[in-house]
Amino acid sequence: MATDVISFSPPRGMRDFYPEDMVLRNAVFDAWSAAARQSGFDEYDACVVESLALLKRKSGEEITDQIYHFKDKSGRELALRPEMTPTLARMIVAKQGSLTMPLKWFTIAQCFRYERTTRGRKREHYQLNLDVIGESSVSAEAEVIATAAGAMSRLGLTGKHYQIRFSSRALLSELLLKLGIEAAHHAATFLALDKRGKITDEAIKTLLENEGVSPEAIPTIFALLEVETLEQARDMLGAETPAYQDVLAFLETLDAYGIADLMSFDISVIRGLSYYTGIVFEAFDTSEGLRAIFGGGRYDNLLGDIGGAATTGVGLGFGDVVIAELLEALGLAPATGDHAPDIAIGFMQDAQQLTAVRIATALRASGKGAHLALHAEKPKAFFKRVGKGTAPQAIYLGPDDTENGTARIKTLADRTEETVSIEELLQA
Ligand code: HAM
Repeated sequence: MATDVISFSPPRGMRDFYPEDMVLRNAVFDAWSAAARQSGFDEYDACVVESLALLKRKSGEEITDQIYHFKDKSGRELALRPEMTPTLARMIVAKQGSLTMPLKWFTIAQCFRYERTTRGRKREHYQLNLDVIGESSVSAEAEVIATAAGAMSRLGLTGKHYQIRFSSRALLSELLLKLGIEAAHHAATFLALDKRGKITDEAIKTLLENEGVSPEAIPTIFALLEVETLEQARDMLGAETPAYQDVLAFLETLDAYGIADLMSFDISVIRGLSYYTGIVFEAFDTSEGLRAIFGGGRYDNLLGDIGGAATTGVGLGFGDVVIAELLEALGLAPATGDHAPDIAIGFMQDAQQLTAVRIATALRASGKGAHLALHAEKPKAFFKRVGKGTAPQAIYLGPDDTENGTARIKTLADRTEETVSIEELLQA
């Protein structure tokens, strides 16, 4: 019988996390959860497998083509979620009548996208999602951004290390209307413009023409992307429109949070997901030229589009891959985790094993962390293992110790020793 050759690497673009890799991953996850909880976001979770119908949108987004999908044995069309937002929308709609709005929820979700793998881009990643549902004022945008900034600062990153570029699809819509481009074409126009720099302008032109935008209007649409300041946009609109006023209020709120200096207006930030309708933003590092650290925006229609009552949402996704690369590049990645047990316990002969087990059990019951050897070993082997940062203290039991009823607690850093009675340890 022929056997397939099994590779010991994970499938392309997927990652394994060995214990040493968990140190950085946990540091990021801990910073995310702590910042989210500190800002009063409630945690939620959902299954990774989602129904394909919920995830697919007919808008020509890249993400739709990247979905890992399959049929289960009953023929159901399922998929590994490429993002969390549709699932969140589904969960909210399912309980819409009983939820008190606005609500603030967070999750750390593993997402899968069949992408071309490059630096910062994998086929699987974890994402902190922070969302506010049911708040129409820009205080929601400011709150999710401030919370993400809180997570960044817990990781040692400040305005020196990253900046957040933002724009407003609502403002862009007002500008497109002013140019005579009907609202019906705006969503497709956003997605086409988001591809700027990734495909040729000629290809974008074709996309816009296919959407029904008149060829004469296309150069003016491109010219919109040259707008450099908010004031320029206002002057083109000829008035302080609602979208313009929203952006001002957004900046004013961020100023009160003390993070206005992180922000810069950049009309070319559009984002590749079709559901955004208002302010959109992306955070970029200032030194490494990595892809976006986090990104998000307001989505007014998603809940309505999947069949719920019209409810607005604002949120962001903050991936683990780019932030890990950035922390490593800046030398800010933690070297060791903080989960090492308090004490390591070893023994010379089988005869001391059960005493070692009893001591470890007593210490664990008293709330201490004990790393217990599973077989007898020579002192040299034990201390060599333990010396690699397993625990700050160690007990190594030999026949004399159990006979005398004493144990020596060794502090590994300064090699000092304290002798205590085993009876006392068992009472701990
Ligand atoms: P997104 O911009 O597609 O937004 O993803 C958010 C973040 O996830 C990115 O900035 C990046 O850090 C990370 N990310 C995305 N794709 C990959 C990948 N292939 N490899 C590594 N990291 C990746 C969303 O997904 C929206 N659903 C966010 C959102 C939540 N909007 C509103 N609420």
